Amino acid sequence: MSRKTVAIAVDHGGHSLKQACIEEIRRAGFDVLDLGTDGIEPVDYADFAFRLVDALAAGQGDAGILVCGTGIGVSIAANRHPGIRAALCYDEETAALARRHNDANVMCLGGRKTPEGTARAMVGVFLSTEFEGGRHERRIAKLERCQAA
Ligand code: RB5
Repeated sequence: MSRKTVAIAVDHGGHSLKQACIEEIRRAGFDVLDLGTDGIEPVDYADFAFRLVDALAAGQGDAGILVCGTGIGVSIAANRHPGIRAALCYDEETAALARRHNDANVMCLGGRKTPEGTARAMVGVFLSTEFEGGRHERRIAKLERCQAA
């Protein structure tokens, strides 16, 4: 049985957290699909968010981590894609709730807002927390209907 893969993509504003996130993805027992960017040269966050959601849509990854300066740009970009539930999280509690209540498949972080230690803990929580289902299934189904309209 193959291990699950977590894709990661960042812009220059998120690059400072990239290596820490990769280490935590591996520590949680997943393979990593690294989609860049690889330095601090300015790039456009939408290009990297779209790389990641395209990879998930193609079945190359099971979940994703996106990082830009605030986490806002990548979350807006990723959520334009059907089937993506990208959650902008800022602590361990929001990382857990994004999974338990929202069944988020992508976690977005702010490289200029979230300390590295917090981000490390958040990645571990996000990747180990299950969706609760129940009443939250109904709410997520409504999101999918909106995308289909
Ligand atoms: C880049 O300077 C910055 O705008 C970007 O990383 C992100 O924060 C956008 O939402």
